[in-house]
Amino acid sequence: MFKKEIERLKKEKNAVILAHFYQNDEVQDIADYVGDSLALSKIAASTKADIIVFCGVYFMAETAKILSPDKKVLLPKLNSLCRMASMIDYNELKSYKEANPDTMIVTYVNTRANIKALSDIIVTSSNAEKIVKNFPKKKIMYVPDKNLGTYLRHITNQDISVWPGFCYIHDLLTAKEVKKMREEHPEAKVLVHPEAPLKVLLEADFVGSTKNILDYTNNSDVKAFIIGTDKGLIHALKKQNPDKSYYLLSKGLNCLNMKTITLEDVYHSLNEEKFDIEVEKEIQEKAVIALNRMMELS
Ligand code: 13P
Ligand code: SF4
Repeated sequence: MFKKEIERLKKEKNAVILAHFYQNDEVQDIADYVGDSLALSKIAASTKADIIVFCGVYFMAETAKILSPDKKVLLPKLNSLCRMASMIDYNELKSYKEANPDTMIVTYVNTRANIKALSDIIVTSSNAEKIVKNFPKKKIMYVPDKNLGTYLRHITNQDISVWPGFCYIHDLLTAKEVKKMREEHPEAKVLVHPEAPLKVLLEADFVGSTKNILDYTNNSDVKAFIIGTDKGLIHALKKQNPDKSYYLLSKGLNCLNMKTITLEDVYHSLNEEKFDIEVEKEIQEKAVIALNRMMELS
């Protein structure tokens, strides 16, 4: 019943539903587009729809609003928050900037709008390497993910400092788990998201964003994969390649903050046009500059 009503409301209101790969299976299945942070931001920036229903975490809907301030952006559950995004404080970053005026602030998209407004450029896990390589001579502070920042320093050899934030599901992964899973599934390739600690990434066959992992499995002749990111991605992987096998690297790879949204929430969100995400004009105007720099270099 919700499915039918959602379809009707979508047409009636000229709405588009975007869902991140970590969303519940039923939500991914109703979405017009399922993707990673970069792809969903690009769609949000270019859509002709009047309403964007963003099935993801708060910073994702907020990013869509920054990129499309004249559209109505709805987040079906207000408590759908990225824990990493709350690991950086506006005043602390402001003080850091004042004390280090020559340091470039490179900010992960997993942050709130006021942090983006203080930043020189935004990156996602899909384009971070490519973007920082554009600034080989710069002193960089990468915020807020210490793991992705450390990985970037490792692969680029650039002068990159890191903020002490992390993702609570990826940070728990260990190299020991990778070794154990390899023993159990020797035929499988290990694919890991760069929010994992460097020690884990060094054990992987491939490191990439959710979309990069999906592309890897599509383009590979290998038939089995150990997946080092949220279990929601496995639904998307199975849909594209049902004949291949996927093993979750660790039981803990389940971002509960991403799983709060149900089909019923999507229905209420569209029907009652809630929760309408707002970004203060002054913050939006600064944050969009950093986001557009990312889009130009992506
Ligand atoms: P992606 O951009 O790779 O989809 O990652 C988003 C995220 O929150 C990972 O934890
Ligand atoms: Fe945030 Fe981690 Fe959840 Fe991604 S998986 S939304 S980084 S808490």
